[in-house]
Amino acid sequence: MNVKIAPSILSADFGRLNEEVSDVAAAGADLIHVDVMDGHFVPNLTFGAPVMRYIKTDLPLDVHLMIEKPEKYVADFVQAGADYITVHFEACDDLKGVLEDIRIAGVKCGVSMKPGTAIVGLKPYLNDLDLVLVMSVEPGFGGQEFVEGSIDKIKWLRSHGFEGEISVDGGINAETGKLCREAGASILVAGSYIFKAVDRGEAIKSLIR
Ligand code: DX5
Ligand code: ZN
Repeated sequence: MNVKIAPSILSADFGRLNEEVSDVAAAGADLIHVDVMDGHFVPNLTFGAPVMRYIKTDLPLDVHLMIEKPEKYVADFVQAGADYITVHFEACDDLKGVLEDIRIAGVKCGVSMKPGTAIVGLKPYLNDLDLVLVMSVEPGFGGQEFVEGSIDKIKWLRSHGFEGEISVDGGINAETGKLCREAGASILVAGSYIFKAVDRGEAIKSLIR
């Protein structure tokens, strides 16, 4: 399976956000990963839909909502141009309902899990999901170390017949990226590895070979 690369703008220079996005697009990115944090679900704050709507790119926007009560904000992110909206399993009281809202809006839906959350909880939802985002670090910050147990989660999903996108987020570099690809991941999210690289094109190539 050909893996797609989604640079996470969390590690970009926010003062030159559109230049940074164009730069990684030219370097070979397939999607732009947008990390939305509310300071409650995770101990960090980023931005919301009013900022995201000014991101100018032809690439799909892969929105990762690390926020409580995501159902309240789905419509805003749809309007702001999201192509994928991923909510956290731990943040939803009515997961099926949120996924349905996202789908009805014509946007692809995903669910993410923190490293400590058991993947078996996704079993009832596998048919409702376009994407599963396996968090391979504690959500909140870039530049952390890859959690090895994430590989088993990818394998579990494929062995239970999940054919949608499996995206892996956190601590991705050439080595961990290869392990994820071999286990069945189809999207690699990488923040610091791409944005801090001297040659971003080379960094992206190292993730796909
Ligand atoms: C963390 C975010 C990630 C983050 C990954 O909560 O979801 O997308 O940017 O950063 P790296 O690739 O540096 O681990
Ligand atoms: Zn993310």
